[in-house]
Amino acid sequence: MRNITLANITQAASDSFGGLPDARRRQLMQQLVQHLHAFARDTRLTHDEWRAAIAFLHRTGDICNDARSEFGLLSDVLGLSSLVDLLAGPAGVTGAAPATPGSVLGPFHTEGSPWLANPVDLTPGNAGEQVLIRGHVRGPGGQALPEATLDFWQNAANGLYWQMDSSQPPDNLRCRLRVDADGGFAIRTIRPQPYQIPTDGPVWHDVVAPAGRTAWRPAHVHLIVSAPGFRTLVTELFDAADPWLERDAVFGVREPLVLQARSVPGIDVPVMQTDVVLAVAAR
Ligand code: BEZ
Ligand code: FE
Repeated sequence: MRNITLANITQAASDSFGGLPDARRRQLMQQLVQHLHAFARDTRLTHDEWRAAIAFLHRTGDICNDARSEFGLLSDVLGLSSLVDLLAGPAGVTGAAPATPGSVLGPFHTEGSPWLANPVDLTPGNAGEQVLIRGHVRGPGGQALPEATLDFWQNAANGLYWQMDSSQPPDNLRCRLRVDADGGFAIRTIRPQPYQIPTDGPVWHDVVAPAGRTAWRPAHVHLIVSAPGFRTLVTELFDAADPWLERDAVFGVREPLVLQARSVPGIDVPVMQTDVVLAVAAR
């Protein structure tokens, strides 16, 4: 096309991806072009603004490494990570019990956590108030899923995950476990602490802080729950006592994931209890 104009450029750029052999990839690229162009048209994007955005993306890339995804953080603070979680949600495939909602994976999951015997005690070597997190993994009909496994990780009493804190051993406050015959699990651990997203990079300086937003994430633990035949669930459990629940920097809070720590007769620490309900895997 030798005469590109305001009237035809969007169609031309979108059509240029028409040769992608994979239909889904073709759709994604063509829609990306169309939505980006619509954004620029609607806002009458200027040269200066466009240059500033490109420079921001450069800075974002410059700070990324194997241990740090500033682009992931950008997705988180824009609500995109949570939107993708919500779009993937189990609507329509649940049974009697509503499936437990997913929530953000975050940057601190590490493959290969140690397998520990259920019930687990993660407290040795950790200061801080102790808590028992327990529950059952169930299917949509409320049935126990005895083949389920859990991958669990959280931060320490100083608010730091082991990756951020050389005083913690690499396996601190993380484990995998197999549920018992009733789908039950119990993890004695320390009460998770509220945590700040990184404030030393362009996402904080250029995107979050100028809006007067907070860096805080409310106290939470992370879970990945898997069972054969069911959808793997990546989620978080939040402490109902946390002051930041209303203003999570990455939009991860869902009401069913907020747990009260309650005293239970015969148990020496507060108990946070929940059923984790998995949706049936799509065929
Ligand atoms: C976290 O859960 O620790 C987390 C999630 C998103 C961004 C930063 C941290
Ligand atoms: Fe986290």
